[in-house]
Parts: sequence; structure tokens; C-alpha cells
Amino acid sequence: MTLSPFFQLHSDLPREGPGSADDVRWALSVTGPAARVCDVACGPGADTVVLAEALPDARIDAMDAQAHFVAEAQRRCAEYGDRVQVFQGDMATLDGPYDLIWCAGALYFLGVTEGLRGWRPALAAGGRVAFSEPVWVDENPVQEARDFWADYPAITDRAGIEARVVKAGFDVLAVRRIIGDSWANYFEPMRARIAALRPDADAELAEVLDQEAREIALWSAAPDHIAYDLFVVAPK
Ligand SMILES: C[S@@+](CC[C@H](N)C(=O)[O-])C[C@H]1O[C@@H](n2cnc3c(N)ncnc32)[C@H](O)[C@@H]1O
Repeated sequence: MTLSPFFQLHSDLPREGPGSADDVRWALSVTGPAARVCDVACGPGADTVVLAEALPDARIDAMDAQAHFVAEAQRRCAEYGDRVQVFQGDMATLDGPYDLIWCAGALYFLGVTEGLRGWRPALAAGGRVAFSEPVWVDENPVQEARDFWADYPAITDRAGIEARVVKAGFDVLAVRRIIGDSWANYFEPMRARIAALRPDADAELAEVLDQEAREIALWSAAPDHIAYDLFVVAPK
């Protein structure tokens, strides 16, 4: 598989966005056990594994648009046999029914309101969605946070996301802040990957590495001011 410079960097990483096993387990403590689960935009499958471990009787689908992430997630989930299926797909067209749709750091591709509306037919009765989304931490964000999120103009605060959830016809059941260590889980392996790729990088790849290194530097300068919130929501 020939990967673009962007995906040369974004491959062979433990995860592709901020998060942790504790974040997944917290969401499950809110939703209770789920029999049919979908890890939407699963990336390399870090959370799929946690879902599979925490829900030993569940059937779990995990899907992503990128073939190389699907292949990585399939390798990591092979030990769970048929009850975990990883496949390539588009999260805009989700087939259910699912008791839980888990989506770490990807609902923004569809938009919170648009995505939740679109997923509603894929939810079983009593089904829940858990998703993480960028949020402002401070009323007056520090410059590092402004620079960090410069390419994401849709960013708002927790109340702003809650309003988008309600607009989709859902209620917010619980919210947890994803900050600090959950970001280090993403950026520390990324830092190491940049260092490993740097010596042989051509100009195009070097530019991608520089861009990511800058993002990490902004986060490192203000780790308490750059966050996702993890929302557990249910249709009204
Ligand atoms: C920030 S990464 C998060 C990956 C994973 N959830 C994690 O936390 O490691 C966003 C993911 O969304 C996937 N993605 C983007 N658009 C998609 C789409 N339309 N359908 C399915 N996956 C998509 C990307 O391939 C990528 O794996």
C-alpha cells in the first residue's frame, strides 16, 4: 500500500487522536452494557480493543474510511474472532441497529448536529452515542489554543456542543473532559514517529512532519488549555 506523506506519518501509531482506555470505560459506566456496538472512524483500533475487552459478550463493528487503518485495526482485533468485525466504510452511511455508537475524534467530519441526525436510524431502541469533540477550555482562550485550533473554525465550548446535540433531537446524559494524559497518549508516540521518519524524509514528507511538530509544540506549551469533551447522548 503506497501512502501519501500525511498517511506515512499517520500510520503505525497506537491511536490517531486524543483518548484513553479510561475514557472508553467511563462512557460504558454511563451507558451500561451494550450488545451491539460500532466504533465509527476507528482509526488503528485502540478503542475497539478496549470496547472488546470491556464488553466480552458484545458484537462489535469497527469501521474507517482508510484502508491502512482498517488493516491495522484488523490485526489488533484478530484475537476476538468473529465477534469483532473491522471494515472499510463511510461513517455518513451507517447501518445499524446499534446499542452504542462510539466515535472518538471524528464526528466533526460530519458536524455534530448533522452526524447525530444521520446516525439516529442506526440506533436501536434505548441506544446511545458517545463522541469526543474539540472544545474551548477557557472563556478567553490562550494564544497557543487559538493557534492550535486555527484550522477548525467550528470549535465552540461545552455549552455550544450541547446546543448542537439538542438541535439534533438528542439529550446529553454526561460529559467528561479529555485533557492532559489522553493527549499525551496521542502526541508522545507521534513525536517518536516524527523523529524516526525525519532522517529519510523527502521535502514533501518533511513539510508534513514540520506541521505536526508545530502542532505538538503548541499543545506542549498549553496542555491544560487544549481539550476534547467526551459526550454521552441519547435520542429524546
Ligand atoms: C482523528 S482520527 C480518530 C481515529 C480513532 N477514532 C482514534 O481515536 O484513534 C479520525 C478518523 O476518522 C476517519 N474518517 C474520516 N472521515 C471518515 C468517513 N467519512 N468515514 C469513516 N471514517 C472516516 C479517518 O480515517 C481517521 O481514522
